[in-house]
Amino acid sequence: MQNNTFSTLFVGQNLIKLLEVDSTNNFIKDLVSNSGPLTEGTVIMADHQFAGRGQQSNVWHTEPGLNLTFSLYLKPSFLPISKQFLLNMAVSIGIRNALQLFIKEGIKIKWPNDIYHNGRKMGGVLIENILAGSTYKASIIGIGLNVNQSVFAPELRDRATSMKGILQADVNLIEVLAEICSNIEKQYLRLKTGNHQALVTDYVSGLYKFDTPASYRQNGEVLEGKIIGVTEAGMLVLLIKGEIKEYNFKEIEFLNHTT
Ligand code: BTN
Repeated sequence: MQNNTFSTLFVGQNLIKLLEVDSTNNFIKDLVSNSGPLTEGTVIMADHQFAGRGQQSNVWHTEPGLNLTFSLYLKPSFLPISKQFLLNMAVSIGIRNALQLFIKEGIKIKWPNDIYHNGRKMGGVLIENILAGSTYKASIIGIGLNVNQSVFAPELRDRATSMKGILQADVNLIEVLAEICSNIEKQYLRLKTGNHQALVTDYVSGLYKFDTPASYRQNGEVLEGKIIGVTEAGMLVLLIKGEIKEYNFKEIEFLNHTT
């Protein structure tokens, strides 16, 4: 199915809606590898994604028909691979800004790219790049967002939320998708202009636990500190006992998620 009703230049102009797929990221990967050229901005969404993938080889579970599970194809040939975290920042800011149109308070980006509301996870992003030498062949931006799901598995109950859970009302999936596409496009075009510092400042200012004392775990050790920044390369910068330390994703874990 094609949908050309989004008020964007290219993101979401080619919208393909699938009833069922293993993973929308896999679907785009196959298109990029096995079909002819794909239009930049193509979005593949699925009603039922039965083998969704999350960060760090996790599984992304979602109830069919209730949530957004989609992937966006971008080709940021203007961006050096070494600066790929800036794309992650642009996408995260775009999602945050879109959601703030529906939910006025409490939406945050949890480093590196989870979407949180008042300490609970509402969505996540899985970016997978296909490189040709040192340039992008494709960047596949996979986004999972809890929209109308109101029941979560017992182990997730205190940690997950959805737009419906917050607003106490059903939300139109396509309206949310349209705003996300439009806001990601704005940030992507901003990234393209090369004003990287403004993007970093915007990303950092909306971070979950920014400038707030909190507990973290590194190598089994609990650390007390506060986030003071994120580098262009995506390292989390913490102030711990007066010392500035930088951490890679996987090196550090947030504790006390729900506060
Ligand atoms: C995370 O672990 O937080 C990232 C979750 C990303 C899930 C989305 S749903 C659409 C796309 N297809 C996938 O298989 N994963 C991403």
